[in-house]
Amino acid sequence: MQTNFRGRDFISDLDFSKEEVETVLDVAFDLKRKRALGEPHPYLRDKVLAMLFFFTSTRTRGSFEAGMAQLGGHAAFIESKTTQISHGDTAQEIGEIYGRYFDGIAIRHCDWGVGNKYLNEVAAASRAPVLNMQCDIYHPFQILADLMTIIEKKGRDLRRKKMVVSWAYASSYQKPISVPQSLVLQMPRFGLDIVLAHPPEFRLMPEIMDQAQEQARKYGTGFDVVDDMDEAFKDADIVYPKSWGPLVYTEDVEESARIINKYKDWITDERRMSLAKPDAIYMHPLPADRNIEVTDGVITGPNSVVYDEAENRLHVQKAVMALTMS
Ligand code: CP
Repeated sequence: MQTNFRGRDFISDLDFSKEEVETVLDVAFDLKRKRALGEPHPYLRDKVLAMLFFFTSTRTRGSFEAGMAQLGGHAAFIESKTTQISHGDTAQEIGEIYGRYFDGIAIRHCDWGVGNKYLNEVAAASRAPVLNMQCDIYHPFQILADLMTIIEKKGRDLRRKKMVVSWAYASSYQKPISVPQSLVLQMPRFGLDIVLAHPPEFRLMPEIMDQAQEQARKYGTGFDVVDDMDEAFKDADIVYPKSWGPLVYTEDVEESARIINKYKDWITDERRMSLAKPDAIYMHPLPADRNIEVTDGVITGPNSVVYDEAENRLHVQKAVMALTMS
């Protein structure tokens, strides 16, 4: 078991080794058990987390804030528009100053080409650890919660289980690419065979694909890319279809909307779910565009684990905060 976490940032999925992620999961399961039993676990008494948001959130804000309180500390919600950042406070100043006030700085900044760079600049200047609440490239806490959920549903031996990470049509807005990228980076380390499905314009960043394929080679797992959602779903154990923008292909908003509208049939419905194994689980980080991205029947049906997934955000985040901020 690797236990050397104190003071460390968690920005990319691969910042923690596989053994370190196993430690995080062990702690998360213990914290989940303690919460179920009503056992106090104030590992972060008197510690304060800054939560700096440049983008909206339901689950991330709620779970980090509740998690800090349950660990005996406090979380300060800071909406970037209410700060002096637009009037000149630099990333370096946020790191230097907030690093002195707070015991951890959690940031959500999803702007394409900006967010990850911002987090790393804050981290370089901060004496407190920086935690990634989602950037333009990664969503590492979501993927830890997903992994915890998969282990709960499918057991610890995930070798030869087929996980589909698929693009899905959505009309609400161009969603970040960070969830599929973090999934293909982290999941091969835990034995899952990945099938990545998307129309050609929705490819992931080439450097992320290289890293993901390297992880798959290292851990002896499958990694295939297809452009057919039905083919991907066949005999799957886990399906994780969600929308993202064609950001690698084009940054033009109107062109993106035209491209997205070509693929309205990329929906997860009952017919498509029937292609997967009968006990396949349906996963989604939420929010979902209901009856556009996924039917109500699937997302509320017996194969859906979306609420357990959302709950597990709380437990994995508490584990990482307790390990890095204590
Ligand atoms: N899954 C997720 O990150 O949800 P929020 O955007 O609501 O935080």
